[in-house]
Amino acid sequence: MTDRFTPNSLRAALGDRPFRFFDQAASTQDIAQEWALANPDLPAGKPGDQLAVVVAEEQTAGRGRQGRTWYSPPSSCILCSVILKPDLAPEDVTRATMVGAVGVAEALYPYLHETVTLKWPNDVLIRGKKAAGILTEAAWLGDELGAVVVGIGINIRVDFSDADLIHPATSVEPEAGRAIDRHDLLAELLARLDYWAGQIASPLLLEAWRQRLGTLGKRVTVYTEPDRYPSPSFDGLAEAVDEHGALLVRLDDGEQRRVLAADVGLAEN
Ligand code: BTN
Repeated sequence: MTDRFTPNSLRAALGDRPFRFFDQAASTQDIAQEWALANPDLPAGKPGDQLAVVVAEEQTAGRGRQGRTWYSPPSSCILCSVILKPDLAPEDVTRATMVGAVGVAEALYPYLHETVTLKWPNDVLIRGKKAAGILTEAAWLGDELGAVVVGIGINIRVDFSDADLIHPATSVEPEAGRAIDRHDLLAELLARLDYWAGQIASPLLLEAWRQRLGTLGKRVTVYTEPDRYPSPSFDGLAEAVDEHGALLVRLDDGEQRRVLAADVGLAEN
């Protein structure tokens, strides 16, 4: 299917929204951070705002969490970074990740219904396999939070035969069993992100994120230093999340641990 992005096709799909498009970019994250810091008047993400977005057809240095690379071949993904200027305390920047994760899950819902779940903290899974990821990065102006950039990569029809994968991955089209027009999905995604950015401090956002978290109620292994191999880890029951998005894990000896940054997998026992 040819749904290649061009400046004109995106203008038609995105209307008045501020956007920048690149056929090829190293990473949309860097472009969005520079754009945000150089343009203090971009929409902040208040109710009714249309968030500014950077879109690339292909990335040569797409990045994921924990310093990983994000496989970003042309014409087969949605690769974008949206700019938020939220009025948040630094410990609440995790809420921008919730905006991204809930936005992606809602945009995919018409194609995939309840097969879409979230894996704490920010993976979007279809039938248990990763189909999209969210990378939230802060752009600082000296000591001040200038902007928060929420990077989103969605696999639409990725050929993984050349990819070096750590976890099982999938794409939206084969899972949905139908062709997806990336312009329609991107426009819907951005509409959901606009909505949730306007609710960033609301308990409704936390609840929408929590409801989709397939991790809760499961026995998990928590890898506390995922950029090290092997990472130190512990097992326990993923009981709950708190208002900052931290995962609360009950160990077998009854201790509860609060985990803010880590990777989790389903425990084997
Ligand atoms: C993850 O799951 O590790 C997060 C992946 C985020 C990938 C997106 S693709 C668009 C944006 N630009 C990047 O370099 N990364 C994010």
